[in-house]
Amino acid sequence: MDTPNLNSGQHMSERFARANVVIERCRRLALVSDIQGETTRTFLSPAMRMCMHAVQSWMEAAGMSVTTDAAGNLRGLYPGRTSDAPRLLIGSHLDTVPNAGAFDGVLGVMLGLALIESLNQERLSFAIELIGFSEEEGVRFKLPFIGSRALVGRFDPSLLSSEDSTGISLKLAIEAFGLDPDKLGNAILHANSVAYLEFHIEQGIVLESRDLSLGVVDGVAGQTRGEMRFLGHANHAGTTPMSLRRDAMSAAAQWICELEQRASSKKDLMATVGRIQAFPGAGNVIAGEVLASLDIRHPDDGIRREFVNETIASADSIAMRRGLKSNWKMQLEQPAVRMDARLTELTSCAIAKSGIAPLRMISGAGHDAMIVAERLPAAMIFVRSPGGISHHPDETVREEDIENALTAGLVFLKELQGHPPISTAENRT
Ligand code: HGY
Ligand code: MN
Ligand code: MN
Repeated sequence: MDTPNLNSGQHMSERFARANVVIERCRRLALVSDIQGETTRTFLSPAMRMCMHAVQSWMEAAGMSVTTDAAGNLRGLYPGRTSDAPRLLIGSHLDTVPNAGAFDGVLGVMLGLALIESLNQERLSFAIELIGFSEEEGVRFKLPFIGSRALVGRFDPSLLSSEDSTGISLKLAIEAFGLDPDKLGNAILHANSVAYLEFHIEQGIVLESRDLSLGVVDGVAGQTRGEMRFLGHANHAGTTPMSLRRDAMSAAAQWICELEQRASSKKDLMATVGRIQAFPGAGNVIAGEVLASLDIRHPDDGIRREFVNETIASADSIAMRRGLKSNWKMQLEQPAVRMDARLTELTSCAIAKSGIAPLRMISGAGHDAMIVAERLPAAMIFVRSPGGISHHPDETVREEDIENALTAGLVFLKELQGHPPISTAENRT
């Protein structure tokens, strides 16, 4: 039996050394969780504080000055050649969904950090601000994009009274973290900011099915999120005849099955009920009230909005036929967003110059880039998701794809140096 050629193995591991630092950091941060034994890290939780401490120490070691803004965003600044240099923002989110994988969001921050480390203190014609957004998933307060909305100056102060499942208000959560909600206005991006780049796992199967490493995002599908409430009448499970029931659970179940049927027959439409709560929630009591989440996505806003209206009408009709009431509470109405054409072209060229064929794609998943794009030219680079798995502990990445992302990212930085600033934040309304 031939002795194993350690060199090739060694050569391979050296080739992926910096990629493995990125992966290792993501996996270590995945252990920093609100719940032992899984990855769940929510807005300004104790686990988020620990995560931010670790990322801040890596940022500072890489030569960045680091602050935390009033929205809980971690902001690391890697200086350019001059103090008034234009600013490239690189970022993604540090929060996760419940029982998440190790890469959604945090990979984008770790790749930005690795790019800055690869510069070895070389100064570019622009500064780089690396941002770890505090809240993108909308888990704790059912309000996605708190961090990036504060960055673009679109945080709605009326949301400060929103409460989490324990009754803590958003305002109190910010104060308890040691931040000042009155200073949320200061979280706005710096006037010298000229562009935004976000690396993110694809979270879908397209790159994997084409055996491609990286994608470039042309646009992000719009999304509507909200809650449908069915109001019936709780009663005894053993003594209430079926014909006399006003069962909120059966109404919700019928609505969800009809939703799935209608969505399945509409191309590119994604409809999900991911959370359902029944009250009073005892097995021997007919549910008097049911709260069901609703998440609707489509690349075309008109089709999405029409589908949402049909879905609300379906709930009203089912409720009426069953002698119940229904009401809808919108939580997010996020239009579809195109990424900046010039910056996306530059990104695509950088990937091609690094020897990778980039696939142009639409993202079904929402990202902070769709919010930042309101104020800055934004671009996204997707990294292959093996098995197309995400929002699940089996979410993973391949080291060669992380290496490709770093190579392409460095080419992008060099190419951007040769371009005049695309626009500064203040001249984009
Ligand atoms: O749900 C999403 O679209 C993203 O993962 N936050
Ligand atoms: Mn996510
Ligand atoms: Mn994400």
